[in-house]
Amino acid sequence: MVLDIIRLAGVRTASSCFVVPMATGMSLTLCFLTLRHKRPKAKYIIWPRIDQKSCFKSMITAGFEPVVIENVLEGDELRTDLDAVEAKITELGAENILCVHSTTSCFAPRVPDRVEELAVICKKYEIPHVVNNAYGVQSSKCMHLIQQGARVGRIDAFVQSLDKNFMVPVGGAVIAGFSDSFVQEISKMYPGRASASPSLDVLITLLSLGASGYNKLLKERKEMFVYLSSELKKLAKELNERLLETPHNPISLALSLTSLSEQSGSAVTQLGSMLFTRQVSGARVVPLGTSQTINGYVFKGFMSHSNNYPCAYLNAASAIGIKKQDVDMFIKRLDKCLRLCKKEKHLAKDEPRCAQQTTEDDVAELAQGLGDVLQGETASELLLSG
Ligand SMILES: Cc1ncc(COP(=O)(O)O)c(C=O)c1O
Repeated sequence: MVLDIIRLAGVRTASSCFVVPMATGMSLTLCFLTLRHKRPKAKYIIWPRIDQKSCFKSMITAGFEPVVIENVLEGDELRTDLDAVEAKITELGAENILCVHSTTSCFAPRVPDRVEELAVICKKYEIPHVVNNAYGVQSSKCMHLIQQGARVGRIDAFVQSLDKNFMVPVGGAVIAGFSDSFVQEISKMYPGRASASPSLDVLITLLSLGASGYNKLLKERKEMFVYLSSELKKLAKELNERLLETPHNPISLALSLTSLSEQSGSAVTQLGSMLFTRQVSGARVVPLGTSQTINGYVFKGFMSHSNNYPCAYLNAASAIGIKKQDVDMFIKRLDKCLRLCKKEKHLAKDEPRCAQQTTEDDVAELAQGLGDVLQGETASELLLSG
């Protein structure tokens, strides 16, 4: 049934898949561990940078050394540096590389990797290719990239999250591929028994939705992406900010926070906490210059997928299940929070206290939001959480 959905969503030639009772990161680890037996000499994984901890940890946990390929800035977009990937393969030697680990769905201004070109490179050097398609099933563009990659080059496996694509609780993923025997090999690597809950959840969801129900959700998501994008553009214009131009990202959008960032170092993170306390739980603010060390590797500009992205910004996404009223509510709350922060700027130049201000309207809105949740009316997640 899940294979049917994967084909319907755009990867028409996928030959098999299975549901794993682990989330995306651990499922990627399982793929890498399976490849280890085929490539005993290999110790590196080539990885175009994506600032999501579990992606990085999936390689470390499997015992490999990630070789981080920095993205290139093209306009506002961060894109795969294909020349750097090929140069690294030549430098390290193809037999020492376990695989290329690419990513489709990601937060803007990073855009999906150039999966097709990477697949061609992998075929040329006979290197396996594992694609992290975490929340890509819901986007025909992400699925098309995988289909094309497999047609013109090499893709060994692609991994997607159950909760992000099928609105079920966290804890499952789907590993799919184009070779029955390789997908079976991965499934045999799983040691021991597991909970049946993820399979049961997805079975119940797909039985109740049917193919037409799922298709309808895909269509609505796409329409809401256009709507969210136009509403954010309007808001950006009013506030002298910019909706970053990221046409290759079909799910996530980024709104510049230049004036807030210039106001004070902490204003951007304060906006994030304001939104969170107003039940906008998935919006991600990305300040400038955050460094983070993960397993000994230092990521400069962490969260922005780049060492020095030119501006601070806020992410919003149109995820499956989204409704027009979710977008309207989000824009209203974001507008309010941004204006509050701007007002603060004129009152106190140094540290904004905007996060602490709660108006009666906010309380009424929160009560309304809670009421909706309890009545099961807001079944959808407005935004994808990190
Ligand atoms: C691109 C990407 N990959 C992997 C993950 C991790 O997913 P999981 O929590 O299912 O391991 C996320 C989570 O947001 C993600 O955005």
